Amino acid sequence: MELVKEQIINFEKIGSSQLGFITVAEVQKNIPFEIKRVYWTYYTPQDVIRGGHAHKELKQFIFAVSGTIEFNTENLKGYKNTFILDSPEKGLYIPELVWRDIKFTHSAVLLCLASEIYDENDYFRDYNDFKSYRK
Ligand code: TYD
Repeated sequence: MELVKEQIINFEKIGSSQLGFITVAEVQKNIPFEIKRVYWTYYTPQDVIRGGHAHKELKQFIFAVSGTIEFNTENLKGYKNTFILDSPEKGLYIPELVWRDIKFTHSAVLLCLASEIYDENDYFRDYNDFKSYRK
């Protein structure tokens, strides 16, 4: 599968409301990169905006396994988007070079599947540095 731009993908929701559900993320099936790192964030207060960065190389698939998470994104062409993750089967694909600001409901748990190990040098943490970057 090839994904080129930031978008929400509806993953399969296996099960029923009687028995509960399972959703699967699997490399080469519905995840378009080798997963090198997984992290999750939680207990973010409602009034905090996280993110505030972009990545040079990193690709991510992000889920709200609980609660609701709002992403405001902007790519280098200036295209802005708002994505709402409000159900565990929705995955937000974010390729490299996308700025994001993130808001959480208090109970929200963000699960991230990442294509690279952690590298602070892969971050743009300054918006103007990001916007003036040319590949
Ligand atoms: P950051 O990516 O800035 O988080 P957010 O976008 O959610 O605000 O990371 C927050 C802190 O956690 C920062 O000090 C770096 C550290 N961190 C790691 O050490 N390893 C990781 O894999 C990640 C994602 C963050």
